[in-house]
Amino acid sequence: VICGTAFHTPTRGTLEVLEDALIMIDSTGRISKVVAKNHPSAAEIRAEARHQGILTELQDGEFLLPGFVDLHIHAPQWPQLGKALDAPLEVWLQKYTFPLEARYADISFAREVYSALVEALLANGTTTAVYFATIHLEASLALAEICHAKGQRAFVGKVAMDHPEQCPTFYRDQDAATALDEMRTFIRRVQELAPGEDPLVRPIITPRFIPSCTDALLDGLGRIATETGCLVQTHCSESDWERDFVHERFGATDTEVLSRFGLLRQNSILAHANFVTDSDLALIRQEGAGVAHCPLSNFYFANAVFPLRTALDRNVQVGLGSDVSGGHSPSILDGCRHALLASRARQGGVDPGLSPDERGISHSSISVPEAFWLATAGGGEALGLPIGKFVPGYKFDALLIDLHVPESNVQQWPGIDTAEDVFQKIVLNATRANIVKTWVEGAVVSCGEFVRARARGSA
Ligand code: GUN
Ligand code: FE
Repeated sequence: VICGTAFHTPTRGTLEVLEDALIMIDSTGRISKVVAKNHPSAAEIRAEARHQGILTELQDGEFLLPGFVDLHIHAPQWPQLGKALDAPLEVWLQKYTFPLEARYADISFAREVYSALVEALLANGTTTAVYFATIHLEASLALAEICHAKGQRAFVGKVAMDHPEQCPTFYRDQDAATALDEMRTFIRRVQELAPGEDPLVRPIITPRFIPSCTDALLDGLGRIATETGCLVQTHCSESDWERDFVHERFGATDTEVLSRFGLLRQNSILAHANFVTDSDLALIRQEGAGVAHCPLSNFYFANAVFPLRTALDRNVQVGLGSDVSGGHSPSILDGCRHALLASRARQGGVDPGLSPDERGISHSSISVPEAFWLATAGGGEALGLPIGKFVPGYKFDALLIDLHVPESNVQQWPGIDTAEDVFQKIVLNATRANIVKTWVEGAVVSCGEFVRARARGSA
C-alpha cells in the first residue's frame, strides 16, 4: 500500500490529482484499489497496512507519476546518442547507423551497451520500451534477457532488412527466407524466456521500414504476424525521401503498402507517420494501429511536423517515442516537452515573413496534460496494455518524484503553487535527478538513492 499524492491523466487532456490517496497493489503487481483520502475506510486501511509493515508513505515534496512508455527506441544506437545528426535520414543510416548496428554481431559489446541502456531508461522513468534491436539473433535475445533481468516491460524486435539495394552487404539479412526463419526462432526464444499469458517481455515483428525490405520479406512477416499474433512495429512515412521512395516503388503510401502486406494490424506501432494522408489516418484508425510520435527526431529527419492534433481528432492512437539516436534524449519527460514545442511550432508557424494567419495551423497546440497522457496512458492504449494510469486492474508501473533532491530544478512555493501547478512544473522541468525510484509491476527496478550511494562509495 502506498499513501501519497499521485498525478495521472486517465483520459486525454484531463489531469487527475489523487491527493493523499491510498494505492493498493496486489501480489501480481496490479493496482487492486485506489482509495481517496476522505473515504470512510481510508484511515482503517492505512492503520492496518502500517501495522502489517506494508505501508509506504510519501514525504513532503514527493509525488507519484505513472511510468513512461517509450513507443520507439533503437537500442543499438545508444552509443551514438547526441552525435552524428548532421545528415539527412538516408545518409545518416548508411554513413553512421548501419556501421554501428553491424557491430552487434559481437555479443559482448551488445550486452555491455544494452545493460547500460536499460538501466539509464529505468532511471529516466521509462517503464515500458518498444525496442528496435539489430538483425542479429543472439544480440537481440540478449536485449530481451537484459530487460527481463532488470525488470523493464519491453517489446523487443529483431530487425528485418534484406533489400540488397538499400542495405549494405555488411549489414543485411542474407535473404528473405533466412530472415523469416530467424524471426520465428527469435519469437519462440523470447516467449520461452518470458512465458505465460502476460509476460513482461515480448517479441515484436520489426521490418525496419519498407525501403529496406523486399516484397517477399514484408509478405512473410505479415504472415508471421497473423500466425503468432505478435505485434508489429516499423517506420512509416517519415521524411520526404522515404515517402517518395515508397511511392516510386509501389505507387502507394507507406500505410497502404503495410496494409497490403498484412502489417497494419491492431496495435501495430508506426514510428513517425509524419506524411500520412487523411485516408491513411482513416486506415490506421480502422485497423487499430497506433503512431509513435517522435518530435525531437522529426526536427532532424522529418522535414515536417507530425499533424498530431489531426491524428488525435480522428481518434488514432498516439504515444511518444524517443527514437534514440535520431532523437538525442532518452527521456520521455523531454519527449513531452518536445511534443509541446512541436505542436506550438505547428500552431504558430515558422516564417516571420508570412502574415500571422497564413503562418501557422490553428487548433494544433497541445496542453501539458495532453503531452503527459501521450507519454503514459496514450502509449499504453497504443500497445493495448493496462498501463499508464492509477486505476484498479492496471499495472503498478510508477515513478517516485522528489522535489527536494539537491539537484532539483522544480520548486513548490507554499501558498502559491496548487497541485496542478506542481504537476505542470514537473512535466516541464523535472530531470532524472527528481526520479528517485521506479517501479514496474509493483517491483522497484531503479532507485536513485541507491545509485547515488553506490557512486559515492566507489568514488
Ligand atoms: N528509418 C529506418 N531506419 C531508421 C532509424 O534507425 N531511425 C529513424 N529515425 N528512421 C529510420
Ligand atoms: Fe526510428
